[in-house]
Amino acid sequence: MVAADHPIASQVGAGVLADGGNAIDAAVATALAAGVVSPASSGIGGGGFALVWDAASGSLRVYDFREVAPAALDPSDFVVDGAVDPLLARRGGLAVGVPGEARGLALLARTHGRMSWRRLAMPAARLARDGTPTSWFTAQAAVQVLAKLPDAPPYAPLRDLLGGATPRRRGVPLVRPALAATLLAIAADPEAFYRGKLADDLVAAVRAAGGVMTTDDLAAYTPVERPPLWGAWRGLRIATMPIPSSGGVILLETLGILDRTGVDLVALGADSAVALHVIAEATKHGFADRTRLLGDSDSGRAAAAALLDDARLRRLAAKVRLDRTQPLADYGESPPAVGAAARVPGPGGTSHICVIDAEGNAVSLTTTVNGYFGSKLVTAGGVVLNNQIDDFAIDPTLANGFGLTQSAANLVAPGQRPLSSMTPTLLFDGGRVVGCAGGSGGPRIISNTLQAILGVWLFGKDARAAVEAPRVHHQWSPDELVIESDLAPDVRRALEARGHRLTLSTGVTAVQLLRVRPDGVIEAASDPRKGGAPAGPDAAP
Ligand code: GLY
Repeated sequence: MVAADHPIASQVGAGVLADGGNAIDAAVATALAAGVVSPASSGIGGGGFALVWDAASGSLRVYDFREVAPAALDPSDFVVDGAVDPLLARRGGLAVGVPGEARGLALLARTHGRMSWRRLAMPAARLARDGTPTSWFTAQAAVQVLAKLPDAPPYAPLRDLLGGATPRRRGVPLVRPALAATLLAIAADPEAFYRGKLADDLVAAVRAAGGVMTTDDLAAYTPVERPPLWGAWRGLRIATMPIPSSGGVILLETLGILDRTGVDLVALGADSAVALHVIAEATKHGFADRTRLLGDSDSGRAAAAALLDDARLRRLAAKVRLDRTQPLADYGESPPAVGAAARVPGPGGTSHICVIDAEGNAVSLTTTVNGYFGSKLVTAGGVVLNNQIDDFAIDPTLANGFGLTQSAANLVAPGQRPLSSMTPTLLFDGGRVVGCAGGSGGPRIISNTLQAILGVWLFGKDARAAVEAPRVHHQWSPDELVIESDLAPDVRRALEARGHRLTLSTGVTAVQLLRVRPDGVIEAASDPRKGGAPAGPDAAP
């Protein structure tokens, strides 16, 4: 079973499984296809994380193919007329991290797959060559991006891709011939992305837009295998992503706080105001800790480990009040000054893929170019380049594109990986995978993945009901509880009565989730918010 956020991407993965590929083959082919059909979210110009469960050997391996900051990148590059210009980390050449996607996916296929790399890459190349109907999600992202895209030469290729003066509408074929040629070259050899003409074109696009990346940066890029982050919860074992993601540790921290509040969330009722309030309060502690402590640094790693200490979780749980929120200074321990963002911005790109095959192998993979269409730069080879540099703290006093302020542990620095919120997760009962979850939406990935997991494994919903339920998001700062438009009026009023300042969600978040039922049937959910659909032979209704 494959659950991606675009039906065609899921079908590509299901086709690989039907042809005898395993979960890893399917996840790789699905990720490559997703980057073609949904370029606002992901692609070979970006990077990601993957958890890979090998059922036969009972081993879990975790891969980090996130972008790194170029070797010549200097924090002073973002200073204009004596002040940091945060837009430089969001758009243009300085915003682009060295992409890890192609080497990362090739490593996954080489290490765990059983099909040829070419077989996995060719569906994506064909989709780019033949075109696919523009999805609703891509069309709405195109409208938003075109409205703000500067009329300057570096952005002309994206303007063309999105339809220019008449934004590409839903259903209009999205044909990407330049990307098709690039993917053909990569299908022959994934290293083609990192050397020769494709690498030269990429560096030229970045440097023409003010960036400092070199072909040496591309040649040096290395995916990293990391120890999984494990947690225990309600008789299950949860495996998730360690630093450089904040997602895994905040997910486990929040579950740990919820368990120690003594509050019976099930008795309160799924989707009840009190349950949503308690969940939001727990995530606020996690996000306060993220703000203060986490990053791809020794201090960030040490801090992440300390966040899961039992005594600390108990202290935070004891602060959660059923009847009201707290002043922001009371979340986490010694939280920093409240961040600079006035409100929580839209959720941006990213794409999550879950695959479980008939042998019980599983992959939970999240991939991203960060914001919609990343840096807004497209190479001559049709590759949309990420703007992952915005996930660093360019300056700890400023908010990034997701409204997150971050600490010195996540300062932009050459060779570092920016702190992520991506939360690819697998759940185990004994030695068997029983679930896969993850999502898209910047920091909302964490709160949304958490709520979908609670929906199934605490509240007893089926996978689809858990994914479709209205979600809330609070990232500690700004002090705003983001709600969805279908949240019931009485629930809204009860949340406001507890002190929450409610705002309506803008933009699209998505969670993909697979649940293996005790009878072996897999329930599959691709989030309807983004128009996804799962695919596979055994899809439970
Ligand atoms: N770029 C989104 C994230 O990694 O959190």
